[in-house]
Amino acid sequence: MSTTQDKIQKLIDQRAKARLGGGQDKIDSQHAKGKFTARERIELLLDEGSFEEFDMFVTHRCTNFGMEKNKILGDGVVTGHGTIDGRIVYVFSQDFTVFGGSLSETFAQKICKVMDMAMKAGAPVIGINDSGGARIQEGVTSLAGYAEIFQRNIMASGVIPQISAIFGPCAGGAVYSPALTDFIMMTEDNSYMFVTGPKVVKTVTGEDVTTEDLGGAQVHATRSGVSHFMLENEEEGLLLIRKLLSYLPQNNLEEAPLVECFDPIDRIDDSLNSIIPDNPNQPYDMKEVIYTIVDDGEFLEVHRNYAKNIIVGFARMGGASIGIVANQPNFLAGVLDCDASRKAARFVRFCDAFNIPILTLVDVPGFLPGTGQEYSGIITHGAKLMFAYGEATVPKVTVTLRKSYGGAHDVMSCKQLRGDLNYAWPTAEIAVMGASGAIEVLEGRAISKITDPEERAKYIATKEEEYKEAFANPYQAASYGYIDDVIEPRNTRFRVIRAFKSLQTKKLTNPPKKHSNIPL
Ligand code: HXC
Repeated sequence: MSTTQDKIQKLIDQRAKARLGGGQDKIDSQHAKGKFTARERIELLLDEGSFEEFDMFVTHRCTNFGMEKNKILGDGVVTGHGTIDGRIVYVFSQDFTVFGGSLSETFAQKICKVMDMAMKAGAPVIGINDSGGARIQEGVTSLAGYAEIFQRNIMASGVIPQISAIFGPCAGGAVYSPALTDFIMMTEDNSYMFVTGPKVVKTVTGEDVTTEDLGGAQVHATRSGVSHFMLENEEEGLLLIRKLLSYLPQNNLEEAPLVECFDPIDRIDDSLNSIIPDNPNQPYDMKEVIYTIVDDGEFLEVHRNYAKNIIVGFARMGGASIGIVANQPNFLAGVLDCDASRKAARFVRFCDAFNIPILTLVDVPGFLPGTGQEYSGIITHGAKLMFAYGEATVPKVTVTLRKSYGGAHDVMSCKQLRGDLNYAWPTAEIAVMGASGAIEVLEGRAISKITDPEERAKYIATKEEEYKEAFANPYQAASYGYIDDVIEPRNTRFRVIRAFKSLQTKKLTNPPKKHSNIPL
């Protein structure tokens, strides 16, 4: 008969066995690839000693291909909860050392359990992906398992933050769970995501492509926009998750944590008074403005390498989390194109879903013209951004630094799309279009009649000057109250902080509906 001590010892032994996953050889091979194990990742992610694991003794139920003799405690995914900066989070971490981290019916059930618990607790879910996809031996139960996860991702969307780290393979339909979450991050050398791998691509399209070129971190961070963050290594990613969460509330019914602010709220920065070049066609770096006005110059940029003509990310002002959307004159003159519109729309919707106020910094010459953009649906994508702003009920403060032309003016959180407080710098140009375009339309006939080139240039210059005088300024908009105040650039920080403070008690709801029909 086994004694109590024997039973306790058995538990200890079983736990030790489960912690070894697929065994020391597989752990060594994981390390040799420059990767951490599933458990090491959790240790690095969470506050020290805070991890509570569930379902360590779960094994699969598959009997195909001799699998009944091949069971590993935990079945390839480590799940549970812990804390990050003292706040509860739920985690699942796929264990590549066990059947290549492939997803079985029971593996999926473990993930679903933590997702359900996270929803009940109103706490974020972090998924660390490193998996060969559906467990081939299980067939359709594995597919059903994925769908169970997808459904939970969908239900959790907009309720609790969901973050996906891709630290290994993530291929086939498996990509859709991360794709349904709020943020995806990928390591540069070891991760990839694609719906069909290079071999299938070759068979179907004849195209030769490497894994890296098809779905590596670089591709998804710069070209497809699937990934929000590209990481040099896993440690950087795990720290980034901690940082990202610090800007977010636990769920959609809470506010993001307010942190103590040591950066003076009334800090005036004279450099902003000279940041806009005298020549309106000369670029400048919008990030300098952002770093100057936010608390301690700290800005967590999202989608840094994708659609660089628009900047989105999180910062704090006066200790409160805000989301920033800003045109970047330094890249494609800050024009709005399909990618920039989609990028910003998604970010605005995330902020709105999680009660994060939005600061919009405007310097936009308009939408990018051309067949390329029209054929790619700039109408629909631009409408997405407009929709996202118009639908958002969080506090919205807009500062127009320079250009704000045409449709792009409306889209970028103008007053009529329920911008709460709209400020402009004296350098703002709020008009239907730029001077040269306007004069071409308005004076085209008169210009064509002037034969002497010198005379013509002089006429155009005079007319452009007249137009600029009348429209390339913030005062026409301010005279209608569309701009609440024209502010000195160096005062931007405290004016924006005061604006957000005044909006803390803002209450605004949209009409009841099943859901909106955002132009997707
Ligand atoms: C079962 C799997 C597996 C899988 C890997 N393994 N993937 N077992 N089902 N899907 C096992 C391997 O047999 C091996 O077991 C161990 O995991 C490690 O795999 P290796 O191939 O040795 O590792 P590596 O060389 O690093 O290659 C990793 C890999 C490759 C690129 C992921 O394993 C691979 O191509 N796997 C198959 C990927 C795939 O086609 N999955 C299905 C996608 S479709 P041993 O015992 O030898 O160590 C899909 C549909 C989802 O996922 C649909 C959702 C709607």
